[in-house]
Amino acid sequence: MRLGVNIDHVATIRQARRTIEPEPVYAALLAQEALADGITIHLREDRRHIQDKDVYQIKSVIKIPLNLEMSLNEDIVKIALDVKPHQATIVPENRQEITTEGGLDVAANFDRVKSVVRKLKDSGIIVSLFIDPLEWQIDESKNAGADAVEFHTGSYANAKPIREREIELEKLANACKYAKSLGLHVHAGHGLTYENVKSVAAIEEIEELNIGHSIIAKSVFLGLKEAIRLMRQLIQEAKWTLA
Ligand code: PXP
Repeated sequence: MRLGVNIDHVATIRQARRTIEPEPVYAALLAQEALADGITIHLREDRRHIQDKDVYQIKSVIKIPLNLEMSLNEDIVKIALDVKPHQATIVPENRQEITTEGGLDVAANFDRVKSVVRKLKDSGIIVSLFIDPLEWQIDESKNAGADAVEFHTGSYANAKPIREREIELEKLANACKYAKSLGLHVHAGHGLTYENVKSVAAIEEIEELNIGHSIIAKSVFLGLKEAIRLMRQLIQEAKWTLA
C-alpha cells in the first residue's frame, strides 16, 4: 500500500504570515527522504495554502510521483495540463469549507468530469476521482473514464460511537471491493490519523492512502523540542559574543 503524504498544511503555516517559511518544497524532499511513496498537494482555487509556484517547484525537484488534487475549474485544469503531475485527483471545492467536505458528485457533473478526465488522460496523467463510497458514484466514475477512485474516509473518521464507525468501515470495504471489480484502482484518504488508520489500511483492495493533516500535526510535536533548543542556543551564543 502506497503512502502519499499531503503537505498542504506546511503551506498553510507559511501563508498565515505570507512569508517564505516553511517551504513546502523542503517538506516534499524530507517526505521523499522518509520513503513516502508520493507527494500530494491541493492547488485550491482560493490559493489558501499551496501556490502555483509550489506546484512547479515540487514537480521539478521530487523523484517520487506527484499527485495533484484539483477541482474542475478551467484555470486549475490548465495548470494541471501544464505541470503534468504523475496523477491528478479531482475533488469538489467550495470556498467556504474548511477542508474538502464530501466526495465529488460525479453523477451530477458527469459531462464536465468526463471531459476533464479525457483531457488529463490525453496528457499522460493518471486520473483519480475523490468520491464517497457509494455504488452509483463508483459506476459513474468508471463511465467517466477514471483510472482510479479515492474514497473519502471522512464519514468513517468522524463517526463517534464504535458501532457507527464499524458501519462506515463496512461501507468503505464494500465500496473498495466493488470499485476493484470494475477494474478501478482504489485509493482512500481524508481524516485518517495515527489512531484510526489501521482499520482502513487493512482493506486489501486499497493501493494508496493520502494522509496530510495528522502527519503534519504530529511532526510539530516531534520537532518542537529541537526547534526550541536551536533558538535557545543562538540566544546563548549572542550572550557569549557580548561577554
Ligand atoms: N485526499 C484528498 C482527496 C484530500 O482532499 C485530502 C485533504 O486535502 C486528503 C486526502 C488528506 O486529508 P487529511 O489532511 O485529512 O489527511
